[in-house]
Amino acid sequence: MVPRASSTVAPPAVVTPPGRFRTLSLFRAFRTEQTDPERFYTLLAADTVRQVERHVDLAGRTVVDVGGGSGYFSAAFEDRGAHCLLIEPDPAELRKRGEIRPNSVVGDGFGLPLKDASVDVSFSSNVLEHVSDPAGFLDEMVRVTRPGGVVYVAYTLWLSPWGGHETSPWHFLGGSYAARRYARKHGHPPKNHYGESLFALRAGRVLRLVRARGDVTVLEARPRYYPRWCGFLVRLPGLRELLTWNLMLVFRRDA
Ligand SMILES: C[S@@+](CC[C@H](N)C(=O)[O-])C[C@H]1O[C@@H](n2cnc3c(N)ncnc32)[C@H](O)[C@@H]1O
Repeated sequence: MVPRASSTVAPPAVVTPPGRFRTLSLFRAFRTEQTDPERFYTLLAADTVRQVERHVDLAGRTVVDVGGGSGYFSAAFEDRGAHCLLIEPDPAELRKRGEIRPNSVVGDGFGLPLKDASVDVSFSSNVLEHVSDPAGFLDEMVRVTRPGGVVYVAYTLWLSPWGGHETSPWHFLGGSYAARRYARKHGHPPKNHYGESLFALRAGRVLRLVRARGDVTVLEARPRYYPRWCGFLVRLPGLRELLTWNLMLVFRRDA
């Protein structure tokens, strides 16, 4: 375990305003995701790390960012005084912003190169819908988290407007159809292959998986990007699949 730091924690460089203006500013930034990814992901990462901080004081803590891509979230964790290890299977993702971040390794979420109970926080943003076995992926995140530590998982729901990613909104007519339509229109297949690297993952399945575990306590389950009062949406089976957009789940490892 990395020793706790005693340094003062710097505020994040980019901040989202509180309340409904926070949601508005996230969606505004999302519109420029393709043209200005730096702005969008820096904003989202700072916002997400604040969600984690509602459950754990990050200064000096050890965090693993599973499927961390090019490292926006890892950087935001480090801005808050945490020690963050980024694990990412795709070297091209690691290199996307040029230099590879320190403390980054090529590795798979299904076999994290970490000992049991070795981190304070296991974190994953928008990875779960890209893996074929969400239960196995969560097992591994729980395995490396120490008892009393926190797991944060957020992912895009299949029945949300962005569920099909670049093939949206045609995924509402089926993932295979949406992929074929995309390939016809663009002359190449979509980056995310339905059934291989993008799956029709719903909120209900993951909530049931986590609630059925005997070794964790759910601390928070709500729409990631919306104001806090929208938390009730996650309690509405059926409707939650359409309205939540991105499900954020925070749970504590008990034993
Ligand atoms: C949409 S990107 C999200 C990147 C980053 N976490 C974010 O929120 O911006 C999905 C990431 O999941 C990674 N990924 C896919 N399968 C994985 C696996 N089995 N284990 C860990 N990461 C995986 C991909 O390589 C990719 O970087």
